[in-house]
Parts: sequence; structure tokens; C-alpha cells
Amino acid sequence: VANNSFGKHFRITTWGESHGKAIGVVVDGCPARLELSEADINEELKRRAPGANAWVSPRKEEDRAEILSGLFEGETTGAPISIIIPNTNQDSSKYEPIKELYRPGHANYTYLKKYGIFDYRGGGRASARETACRVAAGAIAKKLLATQNIHVVAYLKGVGDMSVDMDMSVDLSDLPSVLKARNSSPLFCPDVLTENEIIRRVDRAKSEGDSLGGVVECITAGLPVGLGDPVYEKIEANLAKAMMSLPASKGVEFGCGFAAAAMRGSEHNDAFGVNGLLSNRSGGILGGITTGELLSLRVAFKPTSSIKKQQQTTDLQGNIREFTLPKGSRHDPCVAIRAVVVVEAMAALVLADAFLAAQLQPILQNACASYATSVPSL
Ligand SMILES: Cc1cc2nc3c(=O)[nH]c(=O)nc-3n(C[C@H](O)[C@H](O)[C@H](O)COP(=O)(O)O)c2cc1C
Repeated sequence: VANNSFGKHFRITTWGESHGKAIGVVVDGCPARLELSEADINEELKRRAPGANAWVSPRKEEDRAEILSGLFEGETTGAPISIIIPNTNQDSSKYEPIKELYRPGHANYTYLKKYGIFDYRGGGRASARETACRVAAGAIAKKLLATQNIHVVAYLKGVGDMSVDMDMSVDLSDLPSVLKARNSSPLFCPDVLTENEIIRRVDRAKSEGDSLGGVVECITAGLPVGLGDPVYEKIEANLAKAMMSLPASKGVEFGCGFAAAAMRGSEHNDAFGVNGLLSNRSGGILGGITTGELLSLRVAFKPTSSIKKQQQTTDLQGNIREFTLPKGSRHDPCVAIRAVVVVEAMAALVLADAFLAAQLQPILQNACASYATSVPSL
């Protein structure tokens, strides 16, 4: 299964499966002399880990990252940073009764058709366990961005059919407050009223043996004007790919997003004032390049595929069968909750990559200019 790398200048390669010995990530391209510790990474992993409360999977994954390379006396050396996270809480026996069945909403159907082999004990590379590696790498990207005063914060905006256009009581331009409120919420939701509504809905879906989808919003403050390129490296193109590479993500939008389609130009355009844009319906991006305003995006996550309700499926030979999750199966009632941390990590990875690309631009531009003046014109 190829294509396990992401990014150009800040490049990550993840490896491992949910029921193997360990998972891990190699981060290549991180500049030298960035202060970094295992604690920085483990703090982020702890936020992603399941088992924290009644609204996420009860699996207990004691995610503890170990940095194997690329670090000397608490600073990055510029060499590849290799991180390993041992798998400590696999329970393969749960999968035994369903190993001959296609799992509705899961990847074992397409994997088996494509590769002819699938480790039935979990999701293999499709398992959301892989996202722990992204979070570990994202922790480094976040530290790099913080040196430039760039901060990324994601939070849960809503679940089920809640309107995501409802304003929250938090002031999004005050990122430290958003972060504080988000971090004190078990559902990563910075607004108490919205959080209560989410809890009510998730509890209800859970008690009915069902699951819910949800929307994660992510904002980034402190971006300079000029990250991203105008065509294939548009910042929203790379962010969209990052978000759509997440398990269970089904849609992404920037700024006003899909609502922009129902607006007129006179409603949607951001007017310019002497100090920049007067509004931010474009979500901080024009022509694929950051405007210097808050960058905002949303990701829609489908309802968790694993549900207690009975469903129809077939066995590997194509015979109709009933699909019931084995007793004691552990899963997230709404994957969007834990996806918050992963969305934040992916946004940080894309922006760190774009930041490093932007550093190269003036160097190359100057080199071209001095070459042009040194070559006599014909
Ligand atoms: C953080 C996170 C946790 C997830 N936990 C579960 C889970 O407990 N049960 C489940 O069925 N799917 C879970 N998923 C989603 C599945 O991994 C995903 O839906 C499945 O692999 C099929 O891939 P697809 O939805 O991208 O098509 C989770 C996704 C994320 C991002």
C-alpha cells in the first residue's frame, strides 16, 4: 500500500497498523534548533486518545511517543525525526466472529477487493489509529508555527443536524480564550450551550445503539500574507487534501463555504480598507494565497460506521448475512469529537509546509535576480 507520505518541505511518512506492535511517523524537513521534547508530543496524543469520557470510545490507548532520532539536547538537528508509538490495548478476539463479513461503512470491502488481503483484527491502515501519527507530527508543526506566532485551533462546531451557522459565545479573534474554553471541554467545544446540545444528542444516539456525524471548525491566527501558491499549491487545495485524507471525513469548506453559492457577489466580496480586508467571508484566502486574516475551515465527518443496530451485509463469498457488532465492541459514538485534535494537526502540517516553501521563495527570487544582472544581455 503505497503513498504513506504527505507534504513537500515539511514531510511526514506514517507507518503501522492498529493491531501490529507499534505505529509511527518520520518527520523530514523540520528545521534544526527547534526546541522539542517527547512531552510536547505526548500532550497532544493524550488529547486524541480514546477512553477519556462517556462520549468517546472506551478503548484505553496509553499513547506514549518515543523520539528515536533527529533530536540532540532538546533541539531538533535537521535530521529526520522518527517517532514510535507502541500499541498497547489491542483486543483482536472481538473481530473473530465478524472476520468473514464485510463491515458496513468500513474499508474492509474495498481493501479486500483491491489487495486480496486484509488484517481482520482492525482497520489496518484505514484504522483511525493511524491518526495518532499525524497528531504526533502535527505537534512538531505546531511548535514550528508558534515560533512565528502562528496558532491553529480546532473545535467541535456541532453534531447531527445542528446548524453550524449558529454563532458561538466565544470571540474567534481572541484565540487564547477559544483555546482555553476548548481545552476545558470534554467534547472540545468552546461554547457551553453548544456543548450541552451536543451531549444531549450524542447520549440519545448512543442509547439507541446508533451514531452521529459532526462538523469540526478550525481557525488559524497570525498567518502572514503570502502562504500558498496560485495554482496547484493553493493553500485551500492542500488543506482540502489534508482534511479529506482523514478517515470518515466527507466534506470541507473555507470561509462561507457552501453558503457562498447562495450569495450574490455584492454580499460575498470582502471590501478593502486602508489596513486590509474589512470582512473575512473568503476565510483568509484569496487566489490560493493567505490574506493575513484568520484562516477558517470546516470539515464534515460522517456518523461512525460501527453501530450496535443490526445491518445487512454479505460474507466474503457474497451470501446475505446479518451484521451485528460483537458484544463489548468499543467505538466512538461520534468520530467528529476525537477528530478535532487530528484536524488541528493536519492544518498545522499544511501550514508548516507552506511556511517553509515561502522561506525558499525570496532565496530563489534573489538568486534569479543576481543571475540576471550577472549575465550580459544579448
Ligand atoms: C479520530 C477518529 C476515530 C474514529 N473512530 C472510529 C470508531 O470507533 N469506529 C468506527 O467505525 N469508525 C471510526 N472512525 C472512522 C473510520 O476509521 C472510517 O470511517 C473507516 O475507516 C472508513 O473510512 P472512510 O470513512 O474514510 O471511508 C474514526 C475516525 C477518526 C478520525
